[in-house]
Amino acid sequence: MNGKKGFFICIEGIDGCGKTTHARLLVENLRKLGYDAVYTTEPTDGKIGLFIREYLFEGEKRYSSIVEALLFAADRVEHVEGEIKPALKQGKIVVSDRYVYSSLAYQSAAGLDLEWIKALNKWIIPPDLALLIDVPPEEALQRIKRKKSVMETLENQKKVQKAYQKFVEQGELVKIDGTRPVEQVAMEILNIVLEHFGNT
Ligand code: TMP
Repeated sequence: MNGKKGFFICIEGIDGCGKTTHARLLVENLRKLGYDAVYTTEPTDGKIGLFIREYLFEGEKRYSSIVEALLFAADRVEHVEGEIKPALKQGKIVVSDRYVYSSLAYQSAAGLDLEWIKALNKWIIPPDLALLIDVPPEEALQRIKRKKSVMETLENQKKVQKAYQKFVEQGELVKIDGTRPVEQVAMEILNIVLEHFGNT
C-alpha cells in the first residue's frame, strides 16, 4: 500500500448485520498492526446526519423517499469533503460504516430509480474496497432490539439485501459470511484488507 495515498474501505449490510462492530474491530486490528486507521460513519455526526437521525428515524412525520435520498446524499458530501478526503490526504486508512451502497440499496428498495440515485451521488470518491456483511434478514432483525424505522421491517430488509446482492454479482461488493463467530469474521475481513494493500 502506498502510505501517502491512504486507503478507503466501506462496510455495508442490512440493519443488524454487525457492520458497526466489524468496522470498529477492523480499525482496532489495523492499529494493532501499526496502520493509521480511522472509523467514520453514515449518517455522520454532523448537522445533516443528526437531522437524519432525529427526523427520519425518530420523528413523527414520514418524509418522502426522495427527500431521504437527498438528505443522505447531502450528508455524504459533508462526509467526503470534511472527513474522508482530509484523512486520505494524510495517508490514513478510512473505514466507513456505510457509504454510497447504502443509498443505492435502501433508497432503491424504497422504490426510487437506481440510475437517479447514482446520478445524485455521481461526485463521490469510489472506495478502494467495499465489503458486504451478509446475514439473513430474519437473523439480522432478531439482533436489533428496538425497531428504529420503517427501514428495519423484515420485508424491507429483504429488498435491501437483494439490492446489495446485485452489487456482489457485479463484483463491486465483496461478500463476507456474517453468521459466523465475530472473531472469525473479523479475521477474514482483516485478511482481505491486507491482501488488497498488497495489490495497490
Ligand atoms: P445505522 O446507523 O444503524 O447504520 O442506521 C442507518 C440507517 O439509515 C439504516 O437503516 C440504513 C439507512 N440509510 C439509508 O437508507 N441510506 C443511506 O444512504 C444511509 C447512509 C443509511
